[in-house]
Amino acid sequence: MIQLFFGARSITSVRHALAFSVFAAIAFGSWSLIYAEDPPAAVKWVAPAAQAQKTNPVASNPASIEAGRKIYMQRCAKCHGESGKGDGADAVELKLHPAKFTGSSIHDESDGALFWKMSVGKKGMPDFAKRLSPTDRWNVVNFLRTLGGS
Ligand code: HEC
Repeated sequence: MIQLFFGARSITSVRHALAFSVFAAIAFGSWSLIYAEDPPAAVKWVAPAAQAQKTNPVASNPASIEAGRKIYMQRCAKCHGESGKGDGADAVELKLHPAKFTGSSIHDESDGALFWKMSVGKKGMPDFAKRLSPTDRWNVVNFLRTLGGS
């Protein structure tokens, strides 16, 4: 009787161990899936070479920079911040991590790459291809270049 009791117990603990490993595997699996869907900001967003090589057809003069600044303040500052620090109100609210335009990472990007990223967007970053004309997007690129820390 005692033996039977212990026998039964060890069977249940084997079952528990099994159930726990299945649970652990599922938990780990979903954790890695979630993690894979939302990579850390360290994973670089790279524009296709052909797009990055596009030259800016709009000369960077005061009129273009001013036009770009106006669009930026209306369309971009709420996430990227008025001075490009990535600290706009929506970024905080939506828990987004928009790019900073004050660091060297953005200034290492070509005009074509910035134009392409702005046009196609990404998770958390709207696509502006239909919302802003090409000239407007190039004006914004010219404005981005004036943000600090170049
Ligand atoms: C709703 C918030 C939001 C708005 C509005 C927004 N962005 Fe973004 N932007 C983001 C986020 C989030 C990222 C980071 C995307 C990533 O790397 O996963 C980003 C990334 C970028 C990048 C890429 C930086 C890099 O990694 O090279 C550029 C360029 C950019 N935004 C330009 C703009 C411009 C210009 C505007 C306005 C016309 C704008 N964004 C409006 C959220 C926003």
